[in-house]
Amino acid sequence: MNTPTVTVTIPATSANLGPGFDSFGIALQIFNKIHVKKEESPVNLPSMLKEAAALFFSKTSITPFPISINIEGDVPSARGLGSSVTVRLGVLLSLNELMQRPLEKKELYHLAVMLEGHGDNAAPALFGGFTIARAQREPLCYPLSSELRFILLIPDFEVSTVSARKLLPSKVPIKDAAANTADAAVIATAFATGKYELLRGAFQDRLHQPFRETLIPYLSEALVAAESVGALGGWLSGSGSTIAAIAENQKIAEEVVSVFQKIAPPESQFIITQVNNVGATIVS
Ligand code: HSE
Repeated sequence: MNTPTVTVTIPATSANLGPGFDSFGIALQIFNKIHVKKEESPVNLPSMLKEAAALFFSKTSITPFPISINIEGDVPSARGLGSSVTVRLGVLLSLNELMQRPLEKKELYHLAVMLEGHGDNAAPALFGGFTIARAQREPLCYPLSSELRFILLIPDFEVSTVSARKLLPSKVPIKDAAANTADAAVIATAFATGKYELLRGAFQDRLHQPFRETLIPYLSEALVAAESVGALGGWLSGSGSTIAAIAENQKIAEEVVSVFQKIAPPESQFIITQVNNVGATIVS
């Protein structure tokens, strides 16, 4: 072992992007920094961190050793911005680094998906850019223009993904599934080719957002308002509570913030950010 401490930075992510439920995600320029240190004696860890460490040790057949974990950064918890994946990936990447990289990046991705249950946050957090996560396969990753702006309306309340998934129906009408498929294909094409104008009108979702509106009652109003001032579109970020919009430039992004401020309670936070095309980074 070269060093007993590793630090990694992991970006926040926005998942789903409307019709890309459990598949699409984008990495943002907001970060958590995770420090993992090898210890001599056992340290009590929160269950999410313990689980990630246990999975790493069992996958690599390395005898478990005690670690301490310190998390700092700006990714708000339980707001649909991938905070849980920053922590899980932080542990996996740090342990891998501490043990001189027994696992490849794609293996670490699959471990993060096992812990998360879906890859829509794990893929962009690890690889950066716009990503398409697929069951049992490697994600597709596309860098995006740094001209694009992502506007985040972050409410002052948390939403648990587990609870938000309980609101979803077990079956959906085939016409809704078909409409989502078509719009998701348009979004993937727009991001993969850089023809961002194609995004207009493509973010409508019929599989999860309508059922989660009870959690964020001003969701539809905010999305309509964002488009009315020129945003390319908007969506419920992950399972919420954050509402995200995308704009072609800073000027439109600022107008989106103005309309969001009129709709959301004053305790909300408003952020304009950009894509992160790099993904998780080992700092030291
Ligand atoms: N796609 C998940 C959901 C959240 O909407 O429940 C992010 O992983």
